[in-house]
Amino acid sequence: MKGCALITGASSGIGRVLLEHFAADGIDMVITARDVAALTKAAEDIRRRHDVAVFVIPADLSIPGESARLHKEISSRDIQIAYLVNNAGFGNYGLFQEADAEKIDAIVQVNVASLVSLTRLFLPAMVSEGRGKILQVASVAAFQPGPLMAVYYATKAFVLSFSEAVSEELRGTGVSMTCLCPGPVVTQFAKRANFNHSRLFQKNHAASAEDVARYAYRAMLKGKTVAVHGLGNRIIAFANRLLPRKTVVRLVRFVQEKRS
Ligand SMILES: NC(=O)c1ccc[n+]([C@@H]2O[C@H](COP(=O)([O-])OP(=O)(O)OC[C@H]3O[C@@H](n4cnc5c(N)ncnc54)[C@H](OP(=O)(O)O)[C@@H]3O)[C@@H](O)[C@H]2O)c1
Repeated sequence: MKGCALITGASSGIGRVLLEHFAADGIDMVITARDVAALTKAAEDIRRRHDVAVFVIPADLSIPGESARLHKEISSRDIQIAYLVNNAGFGNYGLFQEADAEKIDAIVQVNVASLVSLTRLFLPAMVSEGRGKILQVASVAAFQPGPLMAVYYATKAFVLSFSEAVSEELRGTGVSMTCLCPGPVVTQFAKRANFNHSRLFQKNHAASAEDVARYAYRAMLKGKTVAVHGLGNRIIAFANRLLPRKTVVRLVRFVQEKRS
């Protein structure tokens, strides 16, 4: 299945590595994020090594209406999107009552609202073509509430619930939706969220962006609905269903707290 891929959050981390997989399969790409210099560098690097077209369209997905502008710009260039990767996302560490209100709004806008909008905007053409693959990047955080990162965990729970539901609606259409749930990954994420000092985020526990992107790409091609990366994370996701919710929330708070 050829056609172009749209990848959000392509400037760093998991998104940046995913570009390599699309390029290796000869798939043209539209890449987006806010960091224009990083996007341009990634595009030049990929064009030099692969025979693919890479279009850079910067967007700040924390601004309502940016998803619609992105869709309009892609349509006006007559680019058909056959793969959509909603990977852009970020979090914020700390007590909810002390969180910066604008930052909280931006997390919901990027992690939830823009993901839903982009899916709604690009999905109908995929369904009418009878082909398409969507990769939604959630987290193992989707499986339980997350004290000290309450909004981030809740946004990922939304992404998981939304993806499972729409994936079922898409059965038989030729279009698949895969929800990726990684555990901690070594990227800019923890530093940006200011929680790389938590017990959860220890370097020896975190996966590499290369491993996670490879796993995600394969799961997307297979059309897997929920793809939890790593045995440990799969055990966590399963154990959460067996333990009392109160116990789970306290355990999550413990691992989220700063290491002494
Ligand atoms: N790293 C982890 O431990 C981990 C674990 C589970 C799930 N995840 C999820 O994996 C996804 C990718 O994160 P990562 O780990 O690769 O972290 P990362 O290196 O910080 O990458 C995040 C990407 O999102 C983009 N982004 C952030 N805010 C944006 C905005 N307002 N508008 C447009 N793009 C924006 C960033 O680009 P710009 O800054 O250039 O805009 C960047 O390309 C996220 O959804 C994250 O929640 C990460």
